[in-house]
Amino acid sequence: MTSQPTDPYQAIARRYDTFIDPMNRKLKRMMLQFAPPEPGAVVLDVGCGTGTLLELYAAADCEVWGIDASPAMLAVARKRLGRQARLHDGDATAMPYPEGRFDWVVFTFVLHEMALDTRLGVLAEAKRVLHPEGRILVVDYHNGRLGFPRGWLLKGFTTIIERAAGGDHWAGYRHFMAHDAIDGLAAQAGLLIERQRVVGWGNLAISVLHPDRSS
Ligand SMILES: C[S@@+](CC[C@H](N)C(=O)[O-])C[C@H]1O[C@@H](n2cnc3c(N)ncnc32)[C@H](O)[C@@H]1O
Repeated sequence: MTSQPTDPYQAIARRYDTFIDPMNRKLKRMMLQFAPPEPGAVVLDVGCGTGTLLELYAAADCEVWGIDASPAMLAVARKRLGRQARLHDGDATAMPYPEGRFDWVVFTFVLHEMALDTRLGVLAEAKRVLHPEGRILVVDYHNGRLGFPRGWLLKGFTTIIERAAGGDHWAGYRHFMAHDAIDGLAAQAGLLIERQRVVGWGNLAISVLHPDRSS
């Protein structure tokens, strides 16, 4: 008998929108201001979690799609979005979408928690399913110069949260930060950063990327 892999978000999924998502709500709205989608744009949220970002894209008249490896998180997203979104339960290293399907492929607080080979796998898939004129939008931690005192306080807080997540998540976070976060990862994945806005007093970055066609 084969055992199902455990879902690391099983325990938190039903409380995620009460305790975690409110901290990121403003940032999610900021993402759409920094990179406003055209009405009708086709948007894929990778690691869409409970679907709060997709809800904002749906309100901006986009066609919204999401994929997540956690059945528990997706159950919350399905309840929130109903028929507004097309959601898939699965590992984003093998996405069930055709080439060039999406105008935007979006990652919020997803890449830092993965092992390097998974990160590179999902970004290779993101490039495959991205329309030639499309863009990848990433929000994640940044290795910026921290503002004092708020940047240092936020850094301390996020380190505690990431440490508490433990196991592979904590190992992924440490690796991500030790290798220059999204800036280092973009170079490894053959992506160019077109625009970037550092927020959270140096702790976070919103980055718009596109494949490096010269590589
Ligand atoms: C910290 S949560 C962020 C959720 C959401 N993006 C947000 O900002 O609210 C990370 C999400 O990424 C998902 N995830 C992690 N690795 C994944 C993978 N390889 N494929 C698909 N989803 C993955 C997790 O299941 C989880 O829902």
